[in-house]
Amino acid sequence: MGVLVLKLILLIYSLVNGALFVCCMHLRMGGNETDRLALLAIKAQIKQDPHNVTSSWNESIHFCSWHGVSCGRRHRQRVTMLDLQSQKLAGSLSPHIGNLSFLRALRLQNNSFSNIIPPEIGNLRRLQVLSLHNNSFNGPIPYNISYCSNLIFMNFGFNGLVGKIPSEFGSLSKLRSFVLQANNLTGEIPPSLGNLSSLEGLGATQNNLVGSLPTSLGQLKKSTILSLGSNKLTGTIPPSIYNLSALDVFSVQNNQIRGSLPSDLGNTLPNLQIFSICVNQFFGSLPYNKLSYMPLSLSNATNLRAILVQQNKLTGQVPDLRKLHNLHRFGSGYNHLGSGTDGDLSFLSDFTNLTELEQLGIKANNFGGTLPASISNLSTNLKTFRFERNQIHGSIPTELGNLVNLESLLMGGNSLTGNIPTEIQKMSSLVELDISMNALSGSIPESLGNLTKLYRLSLGGNNLEGVIPSSLGNCQRLILLDLSNNKLSGAIPQQVIGLPSLSKLLNLSRNHFTGSLPMEVGKLKSLGVLDVSNNMLSGELPSSLGSCESLEVLHLQDNFFKESIPSSMIRRIRPFSQQFVW
Ligand SMILES: *[C@@H]1O[C@H](CO)[C@@H](O)[C@H](O)[C@H]1NC(C)=O
Ligand SMILES: *[C@@H]1O[C@H](CO)[C@@H](O)[C@H](O)[C@H]1NC(C)=O
Ligand SMILES: *[C@@H]1O[C@H](CO)[C@@H](O)[C@H](O)[C@H]1NC(C)=O
Ligand SMILES: *[C@@H]1O[C@H](CO)[C@@H](O)[C@H](O)[C@H]1NC(C)=O
Ligand SMILES: *[C@@H]1O[C@H](CO)[C@@H](O)[C@H](O)[C@H]1NC(C)=O
Ligand SMILES: *[C@@H]1O[C@H](CO)[C@@H](O)[C@H](O)[C@H]1NC(C)=O
Ligand SMILES: *[C@@H]1O[C@H](CO)[C@@H](O)[C@H](O)[C@H]1NC(C)=O
Ligand SMILES: *[C@@H]1O[C@H](CO)[C@@H](O)[C@H](O)[C@H]1NC(C)=O
Ligand SMILES: *[C@@H]1O[C@H](CO)[C@@H](O)[C@H](O)[C@H]1NC(C)=O
Ligand SMILES: *[C@@H]1O[C@H](CO)[C@@H](O)[C@H](O)[C@H]1NC(C)=O
Ligand SMILES: *[C@@H]1O[C@H](CO)[C@@H](O)[C@H](O)[C@H]1NC(C)=O
Ligand SMILES: *[C@@H]1O[C@H](CO)[C@@H](O)[C@H](O)[C@H]1NC(C)=O
Repeated sequence: MGVLVLKLILLIYSLVNGALFVCCMHLRMGGNETDRLALLAIKAQIKQDPHNVTSSWNESIHFCSWHGVSCGRRHRQRVTMLDLQSQKLAGSLSPHIGNLSFLRALRLQNNSFSNIIPPEIGNLRRLQVLSLHNNSFNGPIPYNISYCSNLIFMNFGFNGLVGKIPSEFGSLSKLRSFVLQANNLTGEIPPSLGNLSSLEGLGATQNNLVGSLPTSLGQLKKSTILSLGSNKLTGTIPPSIYNLSALDVFSVQNNQIRGSLPSDLGNTLPNLQIFSICVNQFFGSLPYNKLSYMPLSLSNATNLRAILVQQNKLTGQVPDLRKLHNLHRFGSGYNHLGSGTDGDLSFLSDFTNLTELEQLGIKANNFGGTLPASISNLSTNLKTFRFERNQIHGSIPTELGNLVNLESLLMGGNSLTGNIPTEIQKMSSLVELDISMNALSGSIPESLGNLTKLYRLSLGGNNLEGVIPSSLGNCQRLILLDLSNNKLSGAIPQQVIGLPSLSKLLNLSRNHFTGSLPMEVGKLKSLGVLDVSNNMLSGELPSSLGSCESLEVLHLQDNFFKESIPSSMIRRIRPFSQQFVW
């Protein structure tokens, strides 16, 4: 009786009191109704759904069975997970997301959601996983997300986010993984991030972050990944960072960081797998050891898989890395390493112990001396070996041919002498061979024609003699062939001038070629640059030259051609006339 009266009073009261009416409505709806309405509001903002995933979001089935929706065991009709990843969805994320108050995981990665990340996400106090990466979200990262104090994984990577990293995020004491990669974030890295005591990985590569690394990051004792490359970071690395003994990835490449590396780096970071400081302004570890540009102690970090230090200002010699049996990549190009004298390359003998080595790069340094024959014992896994622009002299060891899996062998711009060893033909995987700008003599071995995967062959700027072997016509993937500036003679083989794959460059200039330009030149339909200038070519230019539809640069001058350019060419030449010289 009393209850009925009370209910009646309430009903009447509520009819005249909107506020209370709303209140009671809400109570009647219950949390499950709130979730249903929130999901419908989220659906309403999804403008493209090519896989029709939200078509199951209809009245005929309970929302806990809707595609991508999971409800809890304890709270049976409350949404605990929303997983709509990789569904090609487009539209915005409704602020109603903030009403799914039992949500633990929100996985929307790999779609095309745009507009802002709704700050209402900050109401999701139970949220543990927030995956928004690889969408088109823009605007700032809402600081309110810092109220999601249970967050463990948070990924905003590959969006169009701007503004600063909210310093409030320092309060997320359970956060283990925080990824911001590939956005347009600015400002400094907030020192408060040093409070993320559970953090194991911080990834913020490819943004516009400025300033120096905060010293406080040295408190992230559990961190295994610190990846801050491709930003605009400056200053020096705070010493505290080098005490993060759990680190296995330390990557700050592509910034403007300067300073030296501590001599005990390999001892304080014993678990390092990737050490990447390339494209910065690091200089050597003087005065500790004048002969070591990198800490000798790196030899103790035996898990190292990649040492990438190219484009810095490092000096000295390469330390003994023999114990680094897992090393796959060693990149040290564009530094001031080596002394320009004999013995500089003796470290290459140590590298023969590195059986996993795939990439070895020492381009553009000061290395002198000769190539030790022991390089033939380098890992057969080696795919790239580049040492262009050093001061290396002597001959190319014939044993080099043992590196049968090599794909790129780049040794241009040294002082190499002697012949091109025919053994190079054993490197049947070779796609790139550059020995240009050396002092090689002898002839071009016919066996180079066995390298049928070659797409780039540069032998220009040597003292090579004899004819072009017609076997080069077997290299049917060649897009660039440079034989310029040698003493080559004879006729240009039709097999070579007619290689239709040539698209970038065919440079035969500054040699002693005779005869006429073969009509097969007309097969070079996609060639951009053709240079046969400064030879002794004669006769009439073949009319087929007009078929070279893509030519942008043509040099025919300083030959004995009869002055008649095929009429089909003249029409097309005019727009580029300054580039067509004959
Ligand atoms: C909401 O919960 C109530 C009570 O548990 C239940 O009767 C009702 O069917 C639920 N509604 C929805 C939409 O799940
Ligand atoms: C989605 O629904 C539309 C309209 O009902 C239909 O034309 C289309 O084929 C459906 N797409 C898929 C992938 O089922
Ligand atoms: C509702 O979703 C179910 C499950 O996907 C589907 O079979 C049904 O056709 C849908 N109903 C409407 C009206 O779209
Ligand atoms: C992203 O989604 C596409 C389909 O939309 C899928 O093929 C691809 O594997 C997904 N990538 C990731 C990293 O989930
Ligand atoms: C859900 O969220 C929206 C937007 O944040 C808000 O306007 C609304 O009052 C919330 N509550 C319910 C029950 O929908
Ligand atoms: C991003 O998603 C697209 C499909 O939406 C997919 O093709 C691409 O591989 C994804 N990229 C990354 C980095 O996951
Ligand atoms: C963000 O957090 C502030 C402070 O708690 C609060 O006043 C505000 O309403 C929140 N914004 C949203 C959109 O949830
Ligand atoms: C990043 O921001 C800068 C400055 O606001 C702008 O010039 C640039 O286009 C943006 N880049 C991207 C990828 O959004
Ligand atoms: C968080 O970090 C900042 C800056 O490093 C510091 O001033 C502050 O006291 C820290 N707060 C907590 C709660 O540890
Ligand atoms: C390598 O580690 C050993 C054992 O901890 C130590 O004695 C040695 O000094 C370290 N080497 C270098 C170069 O730091
Ligand atoms: C290097 O390789 C040689 C020959 O296999 C071996 O005797 C030596 O122990 C290795 N050195 C190191 C430091 O692993
Ligand atoms: C390599 O080339 C030479 C000369 O063209 C030829 O005689 C030889 O048979 C070729 N070897 C292989 C393995 O193809």
